[in-house]
Amino acid sequence: MAERGVVPVDQVITPWTSRLSGFHKLPVAERIAQVVRLCRLTPEEASRLGGEDALSLEIANQMIENAVGTFQLPLGLGLNMQVNGRDYIVPMAVEEPSVVAAVTFAAKIAREGGGFTAEADDALMIGQVQVTKYGDPTEATQKLLAHRDELLALANSFHPTMVKRGGGAKDIEVRVLPAPEGPQSEPLLVLHLIIDTQEAMGANLINTMAEGVAPMVEQITGGRVYLRILSNLCDRRLARATCRIPVTALADFDLPGDQIAEGIVQASRFASADPYRAATHNKGVMNGVDAVAIALGQDWRAIEAGAHAFASRDGQYRPLSTWKIEGEELVGRIELPLALGTVGGPIKVHPGVQANLQVLKATTTRELAMVMAAVGLAQNLAAVRALGSIGIQKGHMALHARCVAVTAGARGPWVEKLANLLVKAGHVKVDKAREILSSLSQEELAAATGTG
Ligand code: MEV
Repeated sequence: MAERGVVPVDQVITPWTSRLSGFHKLPVAERIAQVVRLCRLTPEEASRLGGEDALSLEIANQMIENAVGTFQLPLGLGLNMQVNGRDYIVPMAVEEPSVVAAVTFAAKIAREGGGFTAEADDALMIGQVQVTKYGDPTEATQKLLAHRDELLALANSFHPTMVKRGGGAKDIEVRVLPAPEGPQSEPLLVLHLIIDTQEAMGANLINTMAEGVAPMVEQITGGRVYLRILSNLCDRRLARATCRIPVTALADFDLPGDQIAEGIVQASRFASADPYRAATHNKGVMNGVDAVAIALGQDWRAIEAGAHAFASRDGQYRPLSTWKIEGEELVGRIELPLALGTVGGPIKVHPGVQANLQVLKATTTRELAMVMAAVGLAQNLAAVRALGSIGIQKGHMALHARCVAVTAGARGPWVEKLANLLVKAGHVKVDKAREILSSLSQEELAAATGTG
């Protein structure tokens, strides 16, 4: 019985925030309990979040062919994220140490400037139809454009419900591309169907429409259609995020804020000029984007393909995010294509994804895209902040040391203890970890390895 006037802890309505200080120091069970309370998860959702029941073999067997099991990744929560004034607790599935810590830390700095502002385009995707043996390219183009309405009507006839929801095929475009080197000199003729996929990532819908219009395209042009497939370069479905951080808020490592900001701007210049650096810069961005995508059951290969194709859109591979100093602020901007879904694919089928969506509380693909763009920018901020100043190895080593400690056999509080000893010794290697463990007494060793 609760005391009169005292609300039991599990019924306290906690104000919604992603600023959960001390979260990382809690035991895992307490972290889960806190998230369950905050996000009002059901007991089933809680056990899915914790890994149990995230994906049964039965469901896995329905998802892919030749299933023999399920494969797990660590699931962490990116904290402190604030996008367009709203707080988000961000589920991230990733095997690399430091990714979750980095995004959480960078989002905390970004909060000093009001968090991230973000926007996302309508869900406009492209379905491609490759036409060959069409005769004159200009004539074939004109014929296709003249039949725009019939082509759109036919495409939409394959998905009337999508049309009812306000989506579907909206437009066409025809592209004539120079013939690549080879024996055939015919220029390439490509019809694009521009399709609004609403809350779906849209691959199936787009492919059905592209295949569905092919006979009409052949009839109109007198040509022969080969490929009919979506394009992962979805450059009409972009998400953008910005953050403005007071330079003074960047002070760290005994360095003033303006020095840290200068290092970040230099990192941005480097990536803008050099594809070798831009690839690594973008890898850092995608560390965050992919981790969220995986946790939320998104097609991360499509996201990766789109991001890198978009990064090369002007002929040189460039960074997806840039940093500038404007007045007293460091300003970061990111723009990238994000083809996401809140329906279809594994999203409704995978119980773990459902629980993760319940934690994130983003309800539309547009909202999801804005959060993911902000996560990508935060991830990049954490990387370039360290790279442009003290380097990343120091921070990485501390986290890497924990993996090494686990590999060597440490369990429980001894993981942290052994990791600290390794870092102190300046020798973060499994053999060193084993050496330290073997120097312990029998009793200590049993406690350290959880075998006592
Ligand atoms: C490592 O996973 C990611 C970084 O290399 C990104 C970067 O260099 O910007 C640290």
